Amino acid sequence: MYVDKSSDRGSFGSRLGVILASAGSAVGLGNIWRFPTEVGNNGGAAFIFIYLCFVFLLAMPVMLAEFVIGRGSKANTVGAYRTLAPGKPWIVAGFMGVLGGILVLSFYSVVAGWTLHYTVESVANNLTAGQDFGALFNQFVSNPWKPLIFQILFLLMTHFVVARGVERGIERFSKVMMPVLLVIIVVLMCCSLTMPGAGDGLRYLLRPDFSKVTTGVVLSAMGQAFFSLSVGLGCLATYASYFRPEMPLVSSAFSVCVLDSLVAILSGFIIFPAVFSVPGVSPDAGPGLVYITLPHVFNEAFASLPLLGYLFSGMFYVLLLLAALTSTISMHEIATAFIHENYHLSRQRAAVLVTLICMLLGAACSLSFGPWIDVKIWNRGFFDLFDFLTAKFIMPLGGILITMFVEWYLDRQFVVDQLTNGGTLRVRGLRVLLFLIRWVAPIGVGIVFLNEIAN
Ligand code: PFF
Repeated sequence: MYVDKSSDRGSFGSRLGVILASAGSAVGLGNIWRFPTEVGNNGGAAFIFIYLCFVFLLAMPVMLAEFVIGRGSKANTVGAYRTLAPGKPWIVAGFMGVLGGILVLSFYSVVAGWTLHYTVESVANNLTAGQDFGALFNQFVSNPWKPLIFQILFLLMTHFVVARGVERGIERFSKVMMPVLLVIIVVLMCCSLTMPGAGDGLRYLLRPDFSKVTTGVVLSAMGQAFFSLSVGLGCLATYASYFRPEMPLVSSAFSVCVLDSLVAILSGFIIFPAVFSVPGVSPDAGPGLVYITLPHVFNEAFASLPLLGYLFSGMFYVLLLLAALTSTISMHEIATAFIHENYHLSRQRAAVLVTLICMLLGAACSLSFGPWIDVKIWNRGFFDLFDFLTAKFIMPLGGILITMFVEWYLDRQFVVDQLTNGGTLRVRGLRVLLFLIRWVAPIGVGIVFLNEIAN
């Protein structure tokens, strides 16, 4: 029998806290590092257009479905299915989410660890001109110990926020850090837009080139939308289980989607004008862009004003670090809430267990860039394998199951009550939203998912 622990569960204190914590989960490395690269390589504004369609037509309905499940059950993602559908196989979606959250945190924390290292190096003024940043990066990531130490430090930072609890840890941290993050974005953008190559950078980012849009590009736009909005793992369902009854679900989900998309697009406004201000630098360096191309750009673009270059570079890596941290605490929370409530361990102990598991699995991911580079499972190193399993498999499948559960299994009135707070809120376009959750999201995601499997 599931024990209702709702009475001693934490809760988010304010609407702002809810939006900033959920947006904190959404805004991460996916926005600042991955999105601009994808846009640049896949047709500029054409990609942005397709991406935005996916955000609002597919990912937002999944987010709403997660909100309904979370707040409607007041339980972690496994407990939610136990409460709402006792004895039914839907619980598999809950377990998949816990596993997915652990796998994402394990590989994501590798890149977050690199970011921590670059933040330290940048603040210590070690990323100075005249160095081969490509060689430096490769030496660092292939070292057996160094990246591991930074990854562990980063996981410990995540751990301490989560262990402090929902209101004192997650909400308080998000309420301080998200505004800081937004301010840094605006400052960096203003700085970037005044650089000499800004016009070319913006053109590269915004020119719609529909000839580049292939099936593969459409698929990656959807994958990017899901990853960026943190949907499909029950992460936002877990957060929603801490929402108060008066919290408006639809407008909150909409605000999170708008904020997340805005940060993604503004990140492009920071990176490409800067990259184009230095002649001979390629804007499509892919994953190396942030760690190899940008340190070079910061030095070259500010050659005559090194202090400004130092500030710009330091602020950029701090931005990336904060964005990563507000996301990793949400991944950590999925499993911590589950273990805490399901096995009746204290929140602190549950958090320790999750951190230790992620350190172990995360070490395998980190080593796959160095000494374990030849260790392959299904032709992939650990980092790529975890990335593949979650982004291509668990998140879309989770999205399909979550929307199907809400619209096909749950009582319609229950769902409407959640979305309208028991009829006290007038929600414009409610029928359209229900239609999106019922048909568009599961079928749309299903088509993309089957396509991926076929490939
Ligand atoms: N949305 C985060 C990003 O864009 O970096 C990543 C993420 C967070 C994925 C939380 C999944 C998750 F549960």
